[in-house]
Amino acid sequence: MKGASLKAYLQDPFLAGLFGEIKAAGNMKSSLLDLTHKCNLRCVGCYFFVEGMDRHKKISSRREFEAFVEAEKARGTNMLTVVGGEPALELDRLRLLAKHFKLTVVTNGSLPVPRDGLENIRVAVSFWGDESQDTFLRGQDKRDVFSEALSNFKGDDRVGFYYTTVAGCTDGIESATDRMIQNGNYVAYNFYADLAKQGGSTTIGSVSRTLSTKLIE
Ligand SMILES: C[S@@+](CC[C@H](N)C(=O)[O-])C[C@H]1O[C@@H](n2cnc3c(N)ncnc32)[C@H](O)[C@@H]1O
Repeated sequence: MKGASLKAYLQDPFLAGLFGEIKAAGNMKSSLLDLTHKCNLRCVGCYFFVEGMDRHKKISSRREFEAFVEAEKARGTNMLTVVGGEPALELDRLRLLAKHFKLTVVTNGSLPVPRDGLENIRVAVSFWGDESQDTFLRGQDKRDVFSEALSNFKGDDRVGFYYTTVAGCTDGIESATDRMIQNGNYVAYNFYADLAKQGGSTTIGSVSRTLSTKLIE
């Protein structure tokens, strides 16, 4: 559809529906917030820790946090995406944010995010690769964090999985996606950056190697 006009896009009922929702939402001024330095997992290659973001100044007191909320409102922010660290470790802060902003919380999925005071937020639950790669990269090869997330967020209409595809694990996309949909959640896709230099099946190069091997066979 290169060079197509907006009018041409809107012929598609799905795109027209998305466009209508975006228009209805009004003006958005969004910010990304690292809510906490704490995390209950240590995912292999998580940019937050690999890039030393936990060494930046943090907000410790409730008063300082409330002042931050007021400052964001004053500069016109009305939409926040909250990451970290693990935001589900800071439910009181999330509840305060939910009162003032359209909120999306990105979580590893291992902890529940109760509805109380957080009914109207969006929750994006991380998942990496396929079921076994996820256990390796996010669960220290011991913990099935994906199954924990499915159980924590079963039938929860606030929740979409944020599926980070890992090169070399593409065969698992369909079955993992099926489990997310069967669980009553949405799915969106993203790419893994191999910041911890795992190599092998986690690098983009391995996708082309896998594809070319298949073509040769
Ligand atoms: C740093 S995490 C913090 C939020 C939460 N603790 C979690 O695990 O989702 C924020 C987002 O960054 C993504 N992320 C972290 N490291 C990444 C990497 N190396 N490549 C791609 N996505 C990454 C996670 O999957 C998650 O969606």
